[in-house]
Amino acid sequence: MTLRFLGIESSCDDTAAAVVTGDGRVLASVVAGQTALHADFGGVVPEIAARAHAEKLDICVEDALSQAGLTLADLDGIAVTAGPGLIGGVLAGVMLAKGLVAGTGLPLVGVNHLAGHALTPRLTDGVAFPYLMLLVSGGHCQFLRVDGPDDFTRLGGTIDDAPGEAFDKVAKLLGLPRPGGPQVETAARQGDPKRFSLPRPLLDRPGCDMSFSGLKTAVLRLRDELVAAQGGLHEQDRNDICAAFQRAVADVLAEKSRRALALSPVETFAVAGGVAANGELRAALERTTDAAGARFVAPPLALCTDNGAMIAWAGIEAFRAGQRDGIDLAARPRWPLDQKSAPMLGAGKQGPRHERRGSGRGCLWHGAGGIAGGERAGHAMGARHKLVGGS
Ligand code: KG4
Ligand code: ZN
Repeated sequence: MTLRFLGIESSCDDTAAAVVTGDGRVLASVVAGQTALHADFGGVVPEIAARAHAEKLDICVEDALSQAGLTLADLDGIAVTAGPGLIGGVLAGVMLAKGLVAGTGLPLVGVNHLAGHALTPRLTDGVAFPYLMLLVSGGHCQFLRVDGPDDFTRLGGTIDDAPGEAFDKVAKLLGLPRPGGPQVETAARQGDPKRFSLPRPLLDRPGCDMSFSGLKTAVLRLRDELVAAQGGLHEQDRNDICAAFQRAVADVLAEKSRRALALSPVETFAVAGGVAANGELRAALERTTDAAGARFVAPPLALCTDNGAMIAWAGIEAFRAGQRDGIDLAARPRWPLDQKSAPMLGAGKQGPRHERRGSGRGCLWHGAGGIAGGERAGHAMGARHKLVGGS
């Protein structure tokens, strides 16, 4: 009989539970988002997130089990995100998992959230080790070479904002609602990517590191220049800015992916994370991968964004490799996947800035006014932290 694992995820603003089998079938996957709870604050409020996770987790687990037609007694193990993430949310998930294993005697496996994303291509497409991975979301951006369920090498990543964060901030600068990525993509479809020229940060430097905060600042400057010159933004201006921004992000990610593939040639290049939903980016990455003679894999969107199935699957992989955790399993706000790599440029005492999520509460575009201080904010409370208010 193949293994059956429950996976629990609560590290950011999605409460999720899923049941997955050892032969890669997702029997149920339940995700309860919190977008509406945080809508008034312009970002995820950690305390609100933690409370909502604590309220929703057991319901998600019950729903997942009932959709799978199983009870706890039918399971072979419980996997839970033990970090990195907002600590209150991670704790809520870890405490629930501990309660379940105490009551059932099932094995417990603590999973690194990023390993969940990085191992997803094996769940969805049966990709064999080694493969290369671009993880690109609202809180993460890194190239990983994956050689085993616990063997990750980071080839490079953002030294400041994650691309999803940049999409969200650009959307806010242009008066588009959250989450910004899909809004910017829709606007970009009506825009001319060549009308404005935006920078391609760090392309002039060797290696696979990236930077997106300068691009966002360039959009701010462009917006303010247009507003000063014409007294406001026309819809076409907004569409053209979105198109230029999206093209710049896609160009940078495609070129850095080309370099990552040259540095570490493998058969498969996979992408995951919410930004992987972007059509222009997917197409650019596919072209790059084709040119390098590799296979391109992009898991279905529901398994690219945060979910419990990836945690259940990563738990199964770790369980097969012998991992068992005790009731003393710790919740970790920070937990880099690649422990071997030297700290990144810009990494202070509190870890790389890209692991601290910042998404300020800026004012929307109005007149020539600048953005609120929060737009520049990073915050040191934990990985993937979306900051509320100013810095
Ligand atoms: O992986 P995800 O669901 O959550 C984490 O960040 O962990 O990613 C969310 C991010 C948001 O920043 C959102 O704006 C971005 O993914 N996103 C997109 C698109 N859809 C979602 N960015 C660009 N184009 C899209 N179509
Ligand atoms: Zn994630």
